[in-house]
Amino acid sequence: MLSSLPNSITSPAWWQLINWIGDPIGFQQRYSQKYGDIFSMHLSGMGSYVIIGNPQAIQEIFNQDSKFDIGRGNDLAMPLIGQNSLMLMDGGRHRRERKLLMPPFHGEKLQVYAKQICLITEQIASHWEVGQTFITRSAMQKVSLEVILQIVFGLSQGERYEQLQPLLTAWLDMTDSPLRSSMLFLRFLQKDWGMWTPWGQMKQRQRQVHNLLQAEITEKRTKQDNYGSDVLSLMMAATDENGQAMSDEELKDELLTILFAGHETTATTLSWAFYQIHRHPDVLEKLQHELESLGNNNNLMEINQLPYLTAVCQETLRMYPVLPILFPRITKSSMKIAGYEFDAETTFLISNYLVHYREDLYPDAKQFKPERFFGRQYSPVEYLPFGGGSRRCLGYALAQLEMKLVLATILSKYQLVLAEDKPVIMQRRGFTLAPKGGVRMMIAGKLK
Ligand code: HEM
Repeated sequence: MLSSLPNSITSPAWWQLINWIGDPIGFQQRYSQKYGDIFSMHLSGMGSYVIIGNPQAIQEIFNQDSKFDIGRGNDLAMPLIGQNSLMLMDGGRHRRERKLLMPPFHGEKLQVYAKQICLITEQIASHWEVGQTFITRSAMQKVSLEVILQIVFGLSQGERYEQLQPLLTAWLDMTDSPLRSSMLFLRFLQKDWGMWTPWGQMKQRQRQVHNLLQAEITEKRTKQDNYGSDVLSLMMAATDENGQAMSDEELKDELLTILFAGHETTATTLSWAFYQIHRHPDVLEKLQHELESLGNNNNLMEINQLPYLTAVCQETLRMYPVLPILFPRITKSSMKIAGYEFDAETTFLISNYLVHYREDLYPDAKQFKPERFFGRQYSPVEYLPFGGGSRRCLGYALAQLEMKLVLATILSKYQLVLAEDKPVIMQRRGFTLAPKGGVRMMIAGKLK
């Protein structure tokens, strides 16, 4: 019941829906100013949601993780990633799948990927000419797509790679604006009437991607020494406690999940990092100084430990959470959170955006200040760019490593400047938020 939810927004539900899809940041700013850090929105055709920007309430939710369904709240993503995706699972099935998927993204495996990430970045930047301008987000998307194709799918050349690479880019670019993103939220637009409808094109591309991935999996299975060091090979070799391996359908859906969850997110965050670093010459200078202090040391994992570079990435992730809210948490039975009584089937949307802009935690929150991370330690409910609880981002270690290695590789070789003076704002791109216009930059010189 709408009225039983705390601090309900009173404007019509269709108006809230348009605003939420079109401008999720403005929406949250406006209503948090009016109602505080817990309020409820009602979206036409989609239901009611309680938005939470209060760290104590978030702690209460994380502490009672098993009392929420999370996977089924992600059903909007099902048409893209398929029903066998980790993101859509709950309970024991989700725990089993996470266990199978976790190892390739952590520990010593990361060292193997570090070299590949630097080589990919160097290769893509090697085409840059002094005086040329480029859209940072597109360049970073090339890097992060290549990282997924090589490290996760195990593809770097050959006919299948040549087909997948442009196909994936075209597929992902289909939701590159708020208007084009609306087909993900409005089910009546999800009609497959062939290639002349946007949804038809989306589904057609998806079928092509599926066929290529199936061919890759089949080929790997038939090879004698089928298991390489890529994530797909590790996923194919992994078994659960009953000796059960993942089926082809599961493998394909998980590959698409990793592609969707891992590629746009990292590319977008990197483009914000380039933007802020080049708006603040003192930040750029400190970073370059820190990178020079490494000398010719080739241990790439040391780059991962650099304190100032780490703080710059943390501050970028704070100011620009690519997912403006975490996955929906749906109560399985009635419960009390932050002193309010909630019925079963209440959906909570934890807003990392609202938490990251709290002045009590982050003074001058609108200012880019990497140093704030030297001054104090933030708890997991005060700083949550990768979410938390049982759903914490699977790729958080890879994402941070990738960000640092790409920044270090480019900043130590190229002198870049922002090509435009005007401030860049966040704009919806599918389920994520990205810089409007993608941040245009110019190559002003080469350093080495
Ligand atoms: C800067 C980059 C990234 C950001 C900001 C980010 C952020 C997030 C967030 C906020 C969540 C939801 C957590 C929650 O609701 O508590 C999530 C989930 C997830 N992320 Fe990431 N992510 C990034 C990169 C990656 C990468 C590189 C991968 C894979 C290689 C990845 C794979 C996933 C997966 C599979 C989930 C679902 C986890 C589950 O349902 O158990 N992410 N991410």
